Amino acid sequence: TKKAVLGPLVGAVDQGTSSTRFLVFNSKTAELLSHHQVEIKQEFPREGWVEQDPKEILNSVYECVEKTCEKLGQLNIDISNIKAIGVSNQRETTVVWDKLTGEPLYNAVVWLDLRTQSTVEILSKRIPGNNNFVKSKTGLPLSTYFSAVKLRWILDNVKKVQKAVKENRALFGTIDSWLIWSLTGGVNGGVHCTDVTNASRTMLFNIHSLEWDKELCEFFGIPMQILPNVRSSSEIYGLMKAGALEGVPISGCLGDQSAALVGQMCFQDGQAKNTYGTGCFLLCNTGRKCVFSEHGLLTTVAYKLGRDKPVFYALEGSVAIAGAVTRWLRDNLGIIKTSEEIEKLAKEVGTSYGCYFVPAFSGLYAPYWDPSARGIICGLTQFTNKCHIAFAALEAVCFQTREILDAMNRDCGIPLSHLQVDGGMTSNKILMQLQADILYIPVVKPSMPETTALGAAMAAGAAEGVGVWSLEPEDLSAVTMERFEPQINAEESEIRYSTWKKAVMKSMGWVT
Ligand code: G3P
Repeated sequence: TKKAVLGPLVGAVDQGTSSTRFLVFNSKTAELLSHHQVEIKQEFPREGWVEQDPKEILNSVYECVEKTCEKLGQLNIDISNIKAIGVSNQRETTVVWDKLTGEPLYNAVVWLDLRTQSTVEILSKRIPGNNNFVKSKTGLPLSTYFSAVKLRWILDNVKKVQKAVKENRALFGTIDSWLIWSLTGGVNGGVHCTDVTNASRTMLFNIHSLEWDKELCEFFGIPMQILPNVRSSSEIYGLMKAGALEGVPISGCLGDQSAALVGQMCFQDGQAKNTYGTGCFLLCNTGRKCVFSEHGLLTTVAYKLGRDKPVFYALEGSVAIAGAVTRWLRDNLGIIKTSEEIEKLAKEVGTSYGCYFVPAFSGLYAPYWDPSARGIICGLTQFTNKCHIAFAALEAVCFQTREILDAMNRDCGIPLSHLQVDGGMTSNKILMQLQADILYIPVVKPSMPETTALGAAMAAGAAEGVGVWSLEPEDLSAVTMERFEPQINAEESEIRYSTWKKAVMKSMGWVT
């Protein structure tokens, strides 16, 4: 039996730090019809280094597409209804590959990687003119987080890359570029491009002129011929060259946090969302103006939904470790077997019993930007057990969000009245309630937490030449909202928060 006609469908790749997903939505309601997810390995070759295999990432995308299409077949849904594909991805992670062989020339250096700490220190001393040189052009502080320094390290240390650059065979890209180039044909005519949101995370992109910046490339010593073409976030880049969806246009591309902003329909000045993935990222749309933070936030490109459409900007509070702390409890301490078990442990005790966990595994990002911070668990007694540690880990995610929300409120002047949230961790009800308690404002989550993929699908479906998604609220009728109200008193919330801050101070300046 054939299912009722659904209307045009749109697929989205969500390539995150921890996993890859492919999801298919109905463009008339935003109903999620089917999806498949594959976990991605992370390699830690040395202390502070984080790498991934670009080939594994690409294969995981193919696997997710094929499996999702199979599942759609089992539901009697015809995959020829899929009219477009969007790509959203972990940002900043840096790949260099050979355009003649299609082979990566080094592992992907992941955004969390700290190997460039000394490079950043040296470069900080060489900033020309005033200290604002990098920030005024890119909206970013000079940090290990962004691609330029990772690429500098690869160029300095990988002989194969040096040779390929000399022979004009090397291409650089963040994960979106690597995927789009490969999916659109690779060595047989793959399209080497990125979008403005991903470009804005490289530290090489001028967020005012929306072009690669010559002076920045000179400063970081990056040969401009290896950079991808910068396109809008919603236009046809090319067609899928293989697999079940061969011939379908790839027409949406956004860094995952920008995609979530779109998926949450934060199109107005002052609208914000917080996504709980590997890290945790609070973005507030600032409209057509670049707002520069005085409280440790980044200025970034929010989206540009079409070649001739205006660019929108956002203020961003970035937290490096959120969901990653659960993975650490699972893989490194072994106190849980699956990520979901953290909720059960935390529920058993309902308190951290004075234990605080600062998961500064990759230093601290916003608002501190301290690469020398390291993780600590403190306030331990003989009474402390794994349940308290699990609870403290969840609380840490909430406290970190409180820190970036406070910074956002100070920069914007008007405090947020509620927080829109999404991402995998939002299915954890204890976390959501804790978050409302610690922020002392309501937390609102969509019934379908895959907002990142939804945003990429919306951009792809709305692209010129595709035109199956209107970006109006009525096209999201399948998404309902759940609200968590603060339940503790404000004083208790403040006491917990100030003890957290004490713990943060202890974690800072750890590596000298
Ligand atoms: O900037 C890094 C960010 O894009 C990673 O997102 O979802 O993998 O935590 P996620």
